[in-house]
Amino acid sequence: MSDLRIGQGWDVHRIGPGRPLILGGVKIPSEFGLEGHSDADILSHAITDALLGAAALGDIGMHFPDSDARWKDADSRQFLRAARDLIAAQGYSIVNVDSTVILERPKLKDFRHAIREKLAETLTLEVGQVSVKFKTAEKTGPVGEGRSAEAQALVTICRQP
Ligand code: C5P
Ligand code: MG
Repeated sequence: MSDLRIGQGWDVHRIGPGRPLILGGVKIPSEFGLEGHSDADILSHAITDALLGAAALGDIGMHFPDSDARWKDADSRQFLRAARDLIAAQGYSIVNVDSTVILERPKLKDFRHAIREKLAETLTLEVGQVSVKFKTAEKTGPVGEGRSAEAQALVTICRQP
């Protein structure tokens, strides 16, 4: 029987003017973006935490503290690759990734394929193993009022005994 595990990740960043909006390594055209120490790619951060969580390897802040100048404006795909390598070192490979970005605007659905492709390329997966979904917050709460954006992710990983 294979050893199958599930990991969950979540992230939130504040929306701010003059900042890039980067989701899964893809820059989305927008007049505002996400504030943060790194490139504030909430989707990559949530998936990184899900990968680490699946193998009980701590969380993103433990491996890449935002007090460390090395991660200032960092391309968050390096966190994804590092998490993939950490779980691979334990003998695990990724089965699938499912994720949701909650952002009031801009509309993201036209970027779904580009984001899935970029994430698949970053994690060395097939596009069919990577799902990305989008939701508004129906104008309620900080996300709905356009003050923040959130991302959620689930991953499954497995290894042969
Ligand atoms: O939040 P709501 O259920 O109204 O979203 C409807 C659809 O709009 C989603 O299924 C998604 O495909 C799309 N959407 C989007 N960009 C967003 C939020 C939602 O493309 N920022
Ligand atoms: Mg983050």
